[in-house]
Amino acid sequence: MLGNGSDELIQIVIQSLSVEAGPVLSVSPTFIMYKLLSKVIGKQYLEVPLNADFSLNFPHILEQIKQHKPVCIFLAYPNNPTGNLFDEQQVLRIIASAPGLVVIDEAYMPFAGVTLIDRLVDFPNLLVMRTLSKAGLAGLRFGMLFGHQSWLDELNKIRLPFNINSLTQTSVEFALDHYDFFQDNAQKIVEERSRVFRQLESLPGLDVFPSDTNFILFRTNLLEAEQIFESLLARNILIKCVHKPDTLLDQCLRVTIGTDVENDLFLDSMRDILKENI
Ligand SMILES: Cc1ncc(COP(=O)(O)O)c(C=O)c1O
Repeated sequence: MLGNGSDELIQIVIQSLSVEAGPVLSVSPTFIMYKLLSKVIGKQYLEVPLNADFSLNFPHILEQIKQHKPVCIFLAYPNNPTGNLFDEQQVLRIIASAPGLVVIDEAYMPFAGVTLIDRLVDFPNLLVMRTLSKAGLAGLRFGMLFGHQSWLDELNKIRLPFNINSLTQTSVEFALDHYDFFQDNAQKIVEERSRVFRQLESLPGLDVFPSDTNFILFRTNLLEAEQIFESLLARNILIKCVHKPDTLLDQCLRVTIGTDVENDLFLDSMRDILKENI
């Protein structure tokens, strides 16, 4: 099934769930839309905190599944904003233990190179979601949901007719005919990600987290995250301050990998800001 971005597909899946049945379950921190759309639609939403290294708290998730019988579980694979891939065996065991649907959100797949799409044959409750957004076509608004026909037939009843307009359809066909271009671009981003990671790691007062996506999450230990965000902004560099006190995102910032020139500007500015303030 196709959606106006994967955001619309998330909305369709949640809208299809009975409000009286069990909750939607995901982890925390993760992509905000699972929670936001659950709340807007009136579904109960349960979040299981990740471990300090952003891995799944596997026993706790299994316990919550057993206790609350979620009708739908969302797992971003790799996860946003932490950037990591969860352990594949744990994810598969969660799918096997779930009493309802499990949506594996592979938005960042172009940078991770792994997928659970071939496991659709093993699990009738599995849905796999993709988007062209992170491959460089966010403005097209084109998401894809893969799963068993019987589920997609039901979900299709909620989808608004003409949700993918004809201009998007034509543009997507063109983009897919030239998909090598987008794959090469993703490969360049992966290479730049290693370089930015190494250089960020060498700066003082930062914990930099490994990433399988097109962004890097880091924690600042000596300056406030907000101060770094504002200082970068004053230099016309916009990154994301994801700092939330007393959570796993305490003093965290997220930088998206850009062109090599943009990345150098960011790294040079970070070096200056840290030097000036520490
Ligand atoms: C994990 C994840 N899923 C889905 C989306 C939304 O993608 P789309 O642009 O296709 O709606 C995002 C966007 O940030 C994301 O991080």
